[in-house]
Amino acid sequence: MNLIEFVSVRKSYWLGETEVTALDGVDFTVQRGDFVAITGPSGSGKTTMLNLLGCLDTPSAGEVRVLGQAVSSLDERELDQLRSRSVGLVLQPFDLVPVLTAFENVALPLHLHRLSRTQMQQRTQEALRSVGLERHAGFRPDQLSGGQRQRVAFARALVTRPDLILADEPTARLDSTNALALVELMKQLNAQSGVTFVFSTHDDRLLRHVTRIVDLRDGKLSVTRGARPDDGVASGRYRLLEVV
Ligand SMILES: Nc1ncnc2c1ncn2[C@@H]1O[C@H](COP(=O)(O)OP(=O)(O)OP(=O)(O)O)[C@@H](O)[C@H]1O
Ligand SMILES: [Mg+2]
Repeated sequence: MNLIEFVSVRKSYWLGETEVTALDGVDFTVQRGDFVAITGPSGSGKTTMLNLLGCLDTPSAGEVRVLGQAVSSLDERELDQLRSRSVGLVLQPFDLVPVLTAFENVALPLHLHRLSRTQMQQRTQEALRSVGLERHAGFRPDQLSGGQRQRVAFARALVTRPDLILADEPTARLDSTNALALVELMKQLNAQSGVTFVFSTHDDRLLRHVTRIVDLRDGKLSVTRGARPDDGVASGRYRLLEVV
């Protein structure tokens, strides 16, 4: 089963009287274990797409399905559960809480889960270990390098053991050494732990490692690497299902 399915997804925003179409009929699937990059120029709809993938936003038309279930059919409580259990978000490199330690930042999403104190500690330590920062647990963000902060953000996304990690330009503000280390880490988590990644990037260092690349131009999507037989035919099959 597909982890996520976009069926003829449209997203537009209103700026005063003007309608801006960010996504214009996008069909797209993510399968378990995928390592997918979304590319495209500034303003092409990458962040919009990640927000929809993370169920942080809803489409203007078309349907987003997570594990076969239409997101539009879920109520607020079910959506919250889905977001907190299935999706790990790395939306901005430096959105860590400055007064909390790396450990406390990583543990934050677990407060929504019913875990004992010991389980919380174990999970948090395990997430920090998986990004190579177990010895930095007590450091605050301002005591860490940019690359280390980005890894804390990944540990925080991993700590709930989500089905999918979404990252918006994860290497954008990193120097070459840190960017390459992060790419290695993502590949390793993908290969060894089967974590599914979807991220936006312009970064060639990252793109070299990616098995599936989709490109957005003016809100339209094309698959430039790792195309699947059913890519692009969904709109024909499902046109009647449009949800307005
Ligand atoms: N909240 C919003 N209100 C109005 N328009 C928006 C909003 N968010 C995005 N847009 C518009 O939608 C389009 C796509 O924006 P989006 O942020 O998805 O692009 P992007 O590919 O992530 O760009 P970048 O590479 O610069 O981050 C743009 O034209 C943008 O102006
Ligand atoms: Mg963006």
